[in-house]
Amino acid sequence: MTDMNTKIRELQTLTSGLPATDGDGVKMTRVIGTPELNMLDPFLLFDAFESDQAEDYIGGFPDHPHRGFETVTYLLNGRMRHKDSAGHEGMIEAGGVQWMTAGKGIVHSEMPEQEDGLLQGFQLWVNLPACEKMQEPAYQEFPASEIAIEGLDNGTEIRVIAGTTNSGTTGPVINNFVNPIYMDISLQKGHVFEQSVDADDNVFIFVIKGELSVGEMSVGYTLRKLGRRQMGILGEGDQVLVTANKETRFLLAAAHPLNEPVARGGPFVMNTKAEILQAFEDFQNNRF
Ligand code: CO
Repeated sequence: MTDMNTKIRELQTLTSGLPATDGDGVKMTRVIGTPELNMLDPFLLFDAFESDQAEDYIGGFPDHPHRGFETVTYLLNGRMRHKDSAGHEGMIEAGGVQWMTAGKGIVHSEMPEQEDGLLQGFQLWVNLPACEKMQEPAYQEFPASEIAIEGLDNGTEIRVIAGTTNSGTTGPVINNFVNPIYMDISLQKGHVFEQSVDADDNVFIFVIKGELSVGEMSVGYTLRKLGRRQMGILGEGDQVLVTANKETRFLLAAAHPLNEPVARGGPFVMNTKAEILQAFEDFQNNRF
C-alpha cells in the first residue's frame, strides 16, 4: 500500500523503437538511441535482440572500441562470449549480466557461443559523469546464480541486477554515479508491483512478454497500457506501480540524470565534439 505522501508515476510516452542492425549484421530493435527517443538521461541506448534464426545473430559484435560510458548486457536466452583489451574474458549465459565500465577506452567483442537456437537479451548504455569518463576500464559480471531474486508466494519474481526493492532485496551491481535500478520482474495476471524511485530519476519500463498497466487504476488516465516489446517512459513521481493484465514479464530501469552535455561519435560518448575527435585519434593511434 502506498501512503499519502507518495506520488505514483504515470505513463508519459511509449515507443516501440526501430529495427536496427549492429555489430556484424546482428538484427535487433533499437528503442533508446533513435530519432524518436535519442536518450533518456543517463540512458544513451537500449537494444533488444531476440531471434532463433542464426543468421540474425551469428556475426556477433567483433572487436570494437568504447569510451566514456558503461555497457550493460543482460541475456535471457543463449550464450555470448566476451573478450576485451583489458584482459577480461568470459561467458554471459541466460540470466547473467555484464556491466562494463568502458571509461577511458576499451576494445571488446561479444560473440554468440551458439550456432542455433534462441538468442535473446538486451544491451543498455549508461552514461558516465564527465569527471569519470576517463577512469580506468572496469567491469562487473554476475551469472544468473548471483543475481538477487525476490520470490513471493503469489508468483511474483523480481530479479534484481541493480538497486533495492521495496522489501530490501539488493542487486549485485554497484554504481555510485547514477544509482541505477535495473530489475526483471515477472507478475501473474492481476498482480501488482510497486517500487520506490528517486523523484529525480528517469524511469522506463520495457515489456518482455504479456501486457501491463502503469499507474493508479482509480485515476482516469488514457495512456496506461504497455504491450510486448513496448517501452514506456514514466512521468514524475517517487513510486512505480504496475498491474499485470495477463502473465507478464518486464524490465524496470531508473537512474539519476547527469544533466551534462552529450557528444556522441559512434562507439564514443563524451561531453564535447573535441573529446570525440580525441577519442577517434587515441583509438587510431592504439592508445586504448
Ligand atoms: Co560494445
